[in-house]
Amino acid sequence: MGNETLLMKNSYDFGLVGLGVMGRNFILNVADNGFSAMGNDLDPEKVQALIEEGGDPKRVDATVDVSAFAKALSSPRKIMLLVPAGKVVDIVIESLLPHLDKGDIIIDGGNSFFTDTDRREAYLSEKGIHFFGAGVSGGAKGARIGPSIMPGGSKPGYAAVQPIFEAVSAKYNGEPCVAYLGPKSAGNYVKMVHNGIEYGLMQLTSEIYDVLKKAGNLSNQELHETYKSWNEGRLQSFLVEITSEIFTEKDTLTSGDLVDQILDKAKQKGTGKWTSQNAMDLGIPVPSIDIAVSMREISALKDERTIADSLYDRPEVATMDKEKLTKLTEEALYFSYIITYAQGLHQLADASKEYGYDLDIAVIAKIWRAGCIIRAKLLADITDAFTEDTELPNLLLSPSFIKKIQSTVDSARELVAYGAINGIPLPGVSNSLTYFDAYTSTRLPLNLIQAQRDYFGSHTYERLDREGIFHTEWEK
Ligand code: 6PG
Repeated sequence: MGNETLLMKNSYDFGLVGLGVMGRNFILNVADNGFSAMGNDLDPEKVQALIEEGGDPKRVDATVDVSAFAKALSSPRKIMLLVPAGKVVDIVIESLLPHLDKGDIIIDGGNSFFTDTDRREAYLSEKGIHFFGAGVSGGAKGARIGPSIMPGGSKPGYAAVQPIFEAVSAKYNGEPCVAYLGPKSAGNYVKMVHNGIEYGLMQLTSEIYDVLKKAGNLSNQELHETYKSWNEGRLQSFLVEITSEIFTEKDTLTSGDLVDQILDKAKQKGTGKWTSQNAMDLGIPVPSIDIAVSMREISALKDERTIADSLYDRPEVATMDKEKLTKLTEEALYFSYIITYAQGLHQLADASKEYGYDLDIAVIAKIWRAGCIIRAKLLADITDAFTEDTELPNLLLSPSFIKKIQSTVDSARELVAYGAINGIPLPGVSNSLTYFDAYTSTRLPLNLIQAQRDYFGSHTYERLDREGIFHTEWEK
């Protein structure tokens, strides 16, 4: 912290702890929007980097000293943490506490597990500190120029930072992509499911790439053009856009394209897995997200996959006419994207009842329309669907989505069948289709499961034609 700023006690509007890539970009965004901001990090190099990039210390400054950091902030202090989820958050909170006053506000902007947020809120509210979790999406660039922000928890706490968050967030038709979502860990929960959907969409986008390559022999240039043209239509989205750009990147170490040199093992930090795990806990089906997590796990088994590949024959891929394939894949991808959003939003609606978040799904879809990783043209239609019917349990039941789904489902069927026959795994499309077929079936064969349960375990069953609980002595 420069000498000049020693004179500037209690003057900074906003504090940020954790000056990694996200933190540095976020704080510079705050400063760009006319709020003075003070950064803090244990690492002097990160502190120095921010001071240099910030330019004017009256606008943005930083220090390694927690006490000086706290003294520099105006009251009530508004301190955002952008540090790795887990223990680090607790450590940072403990280090801040001796320097804070009642009424100060701490915001956890990381991907914290939602029950940790509940625990921290309860702990800090006893000390008179407002605490809330706010998911921040959009990666480093989003943090710098406008992320989507998903706050929940302490309402008065949020009210104090609302002007700052509204200024720094992404805008969709001038509307800020941030809104108070609900009490307790609502913000972190919504961000978790956002990431689950993100996993689903990424899986779908990559398996469509696989089929375009194997069935249509599309070159990287053609893949670029295909995704680019999709991005100009109803599939317009951040993920489709960056996918089209990925195919044009040349490798600096070889003469080829970078995408072809990247190891096919996808890592994960856990938010997609948490989404699936919690959906299981709550009994909410999200198979398009589950399979996306499983596929990252299967991808990690590279050595085993390589051995297994040599042990089994696979069918020779029957190539498909490029034009036909492009149309089929566009429709199947659009269908599967819709189903994936539907599952994630269904999870949010049910979790809201379970945890008392009182979520408004239309508001969530609204703040996802820009800034975040899953932003897409579709989200404008989703916003409209949940605005028209605020109690809509599932997007599939929205009259405005029936035509979109009905007109694309047959392509998903054709593509899944083609993938199965030709040995191309399309688990995301396939799970989306299965979910659709099951969710839209009045009658499923689970009556047989009930009969089996009753047969071997006297678990009883209900009947279609009359009320009550029944048991049958099956073994005569
Ligand atoms: C975002 C992203 C961000 C992060 C993911 C990556 O919304 O900006 O979701 O939070 O990139 O957590 O997750 P994995 O490392 O698990 O793929």
